[in-house]
Amino acid sequence: MATLIKGGTVVTASDTFVADVWIDKGKVSALVAPGTQLGHADQTIDATGQYVIPGGIDCHTHMSLPFGGTTASDDFDTGTVAAAHGGTTTIVDFAIQSKGSSMRAGLDAWFAKSEGKAAIDYGFHMIMTEANPGTLAEMAAMVREGITSFKMFMAYPGVFLVDDQQIFRAMQRAGELGALITMHAEIGLPIDVMVQKALAEGKTAPIYHALTRPEVAEATGTERAIALAEMAGVPVYMVHLSAQRALERVAEARDRGLATFAETCPQYLFLSEDDLRGDPPGVGDGEWKGAGYVCTPPLRPKHHHDHLWRGLRNYDLQVVATDHCPFCMKDQKELGRGDFSKIPNGMPGVETRLHLLWEGVRAGQISLNRFVEITSTAPAKIFGMYGKKGTLAVGADADVVVWDPKREKVLGKDTLHMRVDYSPYEGRKVIGTPSHVLSRGDLIIKDDVWVGKQKQGRGQFCKRGTFGL
Ligand code: URP
Ligand code: ZN
Ligand code: ZN
Repeated sequence: MATLIKGGTVVTASDTFVADVWIDKGKVSALVAPGTQLGHADQTIDATGQYVIPGGIDCHTHMSLPFGGTTASDDFDTGTVAAAHGGTTTIVDFAIQSKGSSMRAGLDAWFAKSEGKAAIDYGFHMIMTEANPGTLAEMAAMVREGITSFKMFMAYPGVFLVDDQQIFRAMQRAGELGALITMHAEIGLPIDVMVQKALAEGKTAPIYHALTRPEVAEATGTERAIALAEMAGVPVYMVHLSAQRALERVAEARDRGLATFAETCPQYLFLSEDDLRGDPPGVGDGEWKGAGYVCTPPLRPKHHHDHLWRGLRNYDLQVVATDHCPFCMKDQKELGRGDFSKIPNGMPGVETRLHLLWEGVRAGQISLNRFVEITSTAPAKIFGMYGKKGTLAVGADADVVVWDPKREKVLGKDTLHMRVDYSPYEGRKVIGTPSHVLSRGDLIIKDDVWVGKQKQGRGQFCKRGTFGL
């Protein structure tokens, strides 16, 4: 079936031009001067006055993540449908190798979670909780299956934390395989001491989540991860970078010519430590409201926003992903009432990333092309999907968003599709929203309504290539 998207302004990471986009058999088949007749279109979408951009790629999500005695509330069905509503057509989620178990078992568990459920295309990173001879050997098999990136944690002692020797060994092996190590770079051992001290002092409110995970813990972890990667002679990618000093470590490394990459997330650009403080006493939910803003690394004071936006503009930051990891206030965040350390870490975000970043375009923080680059092209390149995903070019998957820059939307739990009982952005008006979303040529969203013929299970596993920019 041939589809024509006519009269829109095509925006890629490098170019902006008015063109008709022709789609055939799920791929972009031609980009031509408006009005050029290439045959019969079975379906025509009028994109006049709108932008035509590559579908968003969110390379950091956690569907159905088990965490802190509960499970992230979006699964591969609800979470990918929500992603599509927000203009994201591919996610890369995190499978977990649990301590004492194999990567194979972790990968099989994530295939079982996703197969027959995902509505858009998806890939996996592998969280490595141990780098022992068995898991190091398994990395090759993972890479062959298209799992070409691995996440390691300096945080969460006893659960995810791995020591420097293990990180270093995994980096060396990744270098041999062309895989990429991604790092959660907060130093978790001293953080845990700070957490225990705060609790012993009766400091139990959500704000103490931020006050016990200071910026320096992330900056130091970032520097250490970069040093390990430099010693191993491999690239490294910092996930969910939240703060100025960590960014400075990345910038220094890049200035020295190291292959250091970093992503930030909308919550670090738009929310702040003030949100974690909740409502003033006697108003609304009081300090408990802050539980909805508990994520890790924590939200930082507002002055960090400017640094992160500058980092996005000057290429010290390459990607904006979401770290989508929602937990409902009821029953889930509740687990941490009276003890902030038991609040499940994470926030909803997979649906609102493009809306929020478009505010950055409107405010002149980033250009149109940079918007496309950080939301689609750069994650495709860094994570081995480019060509198939991440741009609009002949032969690429027809993952396309027609973006209406004039249409308004008020963000809130009732206007969004994520399966969670609150929105961190409740009541925020944004201007600019997808009018049409196509996934491999199928029109799946029109005017915020799912119109795809199939939903659950239409998403395909995306086997990713090895690292090479
Ligand atoms: O708060 C967060 N980020 N939850 C998900 C786990 C992680 O570290 O990415
Ligand atoms: Zn993390
Ligand atoms: Zn995460």
